[in-house]
Amino acid sequence: MKKIGVLTSGGDAPGMNAALRAVVRAGLANGLEVVGIERGYAGLMNGWLRPMDAKSVSGIINHGGTILRTARSEEFKTDEGRARAFATMQREGIEGLVVIGGDGSFRGAVDFHRATGAAVVGVPATIDNDIPGTRYSIGFDTAINTAMDAIDKIRDTSASHDRVFVVEVMGRHNGFIALEVGLAAGAEGVIVPEVKQDLIALTRKLQAGQARGKMSSIIIVAEGAARGADIAATITQISGIETRLSVLGYIQRGGSPSARDRALATRFGHRAVELLLEGETNVMVGIEGGRIIHIPLEQASQGKSDLDTSLLTVVDTLSN
Ligand code: F6P
Repeated sequence: MKKIGVLTSGGDAPGMNAALRAVVRAGLANGLEVVGIERGYAGLMNGWLRPMDAKSVSGIINHGGTILRTARSEEFKTDEGRARAFATMQREGIEGLVVIGGDGSFRGAVDFHRATGAAVVGVPATIDNDIPGTRYSIGFDTAINTAMDAIDKIRDTSASHDRVFVVEVMGRHNGFIALEVGLAAGAEGVIVPEVKQDLIALTRKLQAGQARGKMSSIIIVAEGAARGADIAATITQISGIETRLSVLGYIQRGGSPSARDRALATRFGHRAVELLLEGETNVMVGIEGGRIIHIPLEQASQGKSDLDTSLLTVVDTLSN
């Protein structure tokens, strides 16, 4: 193998640049030519390529976002789109492809490999942390810390006004962000798509807390479970408690990646290049028990990660 390509795809995640840096530097250290592909699969289909040298990835490990840009591509889901992408690889002599992205990107990579035989290795990067086969994906730790800092600030004003705050977080169809930041921020309640919500019981808890003189209450809602506005309105309607809403939104996608995400991304990117050199393809790197592993990409592109819903009880017990 003499030349590899690397792209970032799907929703951006803090740490993608750190992974990109690792792929480029590991490739160069192994005598490979590395080419960056801009705007995800669209760049592969259109030949938007950027030769990468060591300097190309200097000073980016600490920056959120992705210097290659990213995009979601409907055209890549078609035979024509995949054929155009493969033609670029053949024309440019790109023998292996590192895809840094989430489950949607990996579904595209699996179909691409099946249709063309292209050598593909996936690097899991999404703040949702919902990729089967890896305990953590790049971006999750940073997003949790961003959300936690925001919720700590909201707690200040909530306590000053004896208010209940509903905070809506991202996570697409999963509750990983909501549950983890619920634990970290000491939330009074966490509402996730994986568990049917009982707003009557939750409201009773909030009323009992206020009766005991509790200064503030924070209810975290995963966007895939409900709209935060609807939860806030329902709590007010049932309990009469003054409730306010904050939707954290896209700040969870940005910011300088945490040390944990930078180190994870570095290990993932380095291992992805090793796997290509070892002749592995159609796999995704991951981490389990602190060790870097790799699994079939099909496994990472289907199914769901399991949320440890027993932790919801911990949140509830410790916030009384
Ligand atoms: O997958 C990451 C994510 O931030 C989800 O949590 C969120 O629902 C989605 O992307 C938003 O997608 P877009 O960036 O296309 O608005």
